[in-house]
Amino acid sequence: MNLVFLGPPGAGKGTIAARAKEFYGIPHISTGDLFRYNIKNDTELGKEVKAILASGDLVPDSVTIKMVEDRFTNDDAQKGFILDGFPRTIFQADALKDMKELDAVVNFVLDREEIIKRLSGRRMCKSTGKIYHIIYNPPKVEGIDDETGEALIQRDDDKEEAILNRLDVYKAQTEPLIAYYREKGLIVDIDASASPEEVFEQVKKALAK
Ligand code: AP5
Repeated sequence: MNLVFLGPPGAGKGTIAARAKEFYGIPHISTGDLFRYNIKNDTELGKEVKAILASGDLVPDSVTIKMVEDRFTNDDAQKGFILDGFPRTIFQADALKDMKELDAVVNFVLDREEIIKRLSGRRMCKSTGKIYHIIYNPPKVEGIDDETGEALIQRDDDKEEAILNRLDVYKAQTEPLIAYYREKGLIVDIDASASPEEVFEQVKKALAK
């Protein structure tokens, strides 16, 4: 199954993708995670995109498309994938059309107030990428990853100024993709305001159709 998870920052795309990849047995390809991996390992790509991610702006299309093309050459992506955070512009969507055929685009719908609550309370483990929330999904011990025992971090782009910029960028550049994919009959709308369990149930039901 070839899937795209679309939706505003903080809508729960990564949280649900972590469940969906186990359930469907396909890789979770998150462009945000790929960029953060490169930043952590101080690669040339990481140096190039570090400041862009911290501000909440988008990485240039050419850089992002090349990275996704490379990722698609891995064996695991031949049986299907969940693309999370890509495409984010019409240009990227047109490029994806030439790379892969899609089965569905899952559109996570969430209002602005809840998005801000989710992003400002998000914490993550730097080495494993596991996502928590200080209220909705806290670790067993405050500030500590359940599995590795490492201190949890807050993403640079989860600070208030960057969150507001990301919301503006989403509205201007990514939201038009909903109409783009709706016209192609690929959009599946999901109410992302429910609990992760309920949201995942909605996704499974919608994709079974
Ligand atoms: P990226 O990492 O893709 O960020 P994003 O799209 O802004 O999405 P997030 O990871 O912030 O949110 P999410 O929807 O996955 O929510 P999550 O599950 O974590 O991109 C980062 C940056 O990389 C971009 O700003 C850009 O610079 C660059 N980039 C990436 N892709 C690019 C592209 N294609 N082109 C150009 N640049 C690109 O959940 C959020 C919080 O809510 C968590 O704390 C979680 O525990 C909690 N939560 C989740 N679900 C629920 C629920 N149902 N109920 C209660 N709490 C919940």
